[in-house]
Amino acid sequence: MANQAKTTNVTISSDNISKYKGEALALGLFQGAKSVPAEFKALDKALGSAIGNIIQLKDFKGKLNETSILYVSGKVPVKRVILVGLGKSRGFKLDNIRQAAGTVARLAEKLSVQRLGLVLHTLLDKDQDPQLLGQAIAEGVVAGRYDYQDHVSANNDKTGGAMKITILESQASKVVKMNKGRRIGVIQAAGQNNARAVNNRPGNEINPPSLARHAQSMSRKYGLKCKVFNDKQLAEMKMGGILAVGQGSSSKPRLIMMEHKGRVGKSKGPDAVIVGKAVTFDSGGISLKPSLNMEAMKFDKSGGCSVLGLMTAVAQLKIPRHVVGLIPSVENLPSHTSYRPGDIIKTYSGKTVEIQNTDAEGRMILCDALSYAARMKPKVIIDIATLTGACVIALGEHHAGLFSNNDKLIEKLKAASEISGEPLWHMPSGEPYLDQMKSKIADLKNIGGRPGGSCTAAAFLSEFIGAAAWAHIDVAAVADTEKAKPYRGIGATGFTVRTILEYLRQ
Ligand code: BES
Ligand code: ZN
Ligand code: ZN
Repeated sequence: MANQAKTTNVTISSDNISKYKGEALALGLFQGAKSVPAEFKALDKALGSAIGNIIQLKDFKGKLNETSILYVSGKVPVKRVILVGLGKSRGFKLDNIRQAAGTVARLAEKLSVQRLGLVLHTLLDKDQDPQLLGQAIAEGVVAGRYDYQDHVSANNDKTGGAMKITILESQASKVVKMNKGRRIGVIQAAGQNNARAVNNRPGNEINPPSLARHAQSMSRKYGLKCKVFNDKQLAEMKMGGILAVGQGSSSKPRLIMMEHKGRVGKSKGPDAVIVGKAVTFDSGGISLKPSLNMEAMKFDKSGGCSVLGLMTAVAQLKIPRHVVGLIPSVENLPSHTSYRPGDIIKTYSGKTVEIQNTDAEGRMILCDALSYAARMKPKVIIDIATLTGACVIALGEHHAGLFSNNDKLIEKLKAASEISGEPLWHMPSGEPYLDQMKSKIADLKNIGGRPGGSCTAAAFLSEFIGAAAWAHIDVAAVADTEKAKPYRGIGATGFTVRTILEYLRQ
């Protein structure tokens, strides 16, 4: 398939920028520069003032992700110089350089460039950490190069598409730090792409059993332990929530566990269990959804795919922590075997739940997985789920909702998200919202009315986490997109993969 053949090799070199020998050299420039910055003067001289001229004519303004291609000849080996805007130097964010890197990588691909030189970071404040810069650039190009084209026949015979990207930095001390970040960035973005690649695949290809097989093959490839519980085993374990939601489809449910030991553990439990909702298609079930945009419900497996993707990177980075990924997977369909409104379900925890809407299925599979996670006595549980439409309404497409019972964990995840450029917004939950989830005829019900729909869903989950520090990330609004971004094409975004990796590496 096209994307598998699209390899990106990223290295760092201390070669002089005027001597770079690829097909294109990209320079990052700030918005509002009046003249050629000192760092690029020698190059500009060799180019016969091509950069100076375009700045003078104001044909290139340096707005974030703005590009201009200069076709150059003569005194430099390179044929194209690509200028890319970094935006204003005041208020510069790490994500700007990740975006600029993605922009350039995508443009270079259109131009069939196979060797691309990057000089994006040279003008940045001296107080920017070179390691983080190397990481962000690597992430931008690797994530930027991924597009879901597996089913576009015209693109499937492309066997090449390899790109060799060289980050140019002349100072030896910086090279070492940037290279450390580069390595981390390449692995993290590849983990993000692994999540996106499976999440983009449609419901006729990915169902709970095929997702489990994919998790097993990825685990073998990356050196993770993988255990899959099938429907019979889930029945023996009394995972009533997962079984109820899964019973309407001929594709039977699975609970997938991926494990990275990472250290010779002294304490018994894992350092972290990351749980991801994987509803391979959410039709709503008997409480059927409207048809408009229902195709997007193939992305209801986003949380689980993020867990799968981030676990591949946890293994590659050899993070010295014991991390378990847990992915409950079902297909939510209406049929004569489906669970129904009115059913009362006994969950794995022993708590009973009155079903009032079969479309509130995510919490019904997560509750079993969370209780299972809690029994491992981990220090931290984090779950990732496309859980509520209410979160889309509350936060729009710009933030994921963050719910937690632990202030330190909130702080750490927010700090990680600052670095990853995947914004999180802390939302309320707890006691008052839990009241809305109480049933008159069971311990809980599975919907709590329209007010605070994301907060009541989180409150429901909080009943199943035992004593662990816990965070729930509702990615309903950010897990997939119709709008391409500089380092992220349309479709599955892999949102949370790099944030959780950032958190786990801390
Ligand atoms: N998978 C949906 C949530 C969702 C909605 C994700 C839109 C992405 C975009 C979830 O299973 C669901 O249907 N939730 C219901 C809950 C309601 C019945 C309480 C919802 O949000 O409408
Ligand atoms: Zn649903
Ligand atoms: Zn759902």
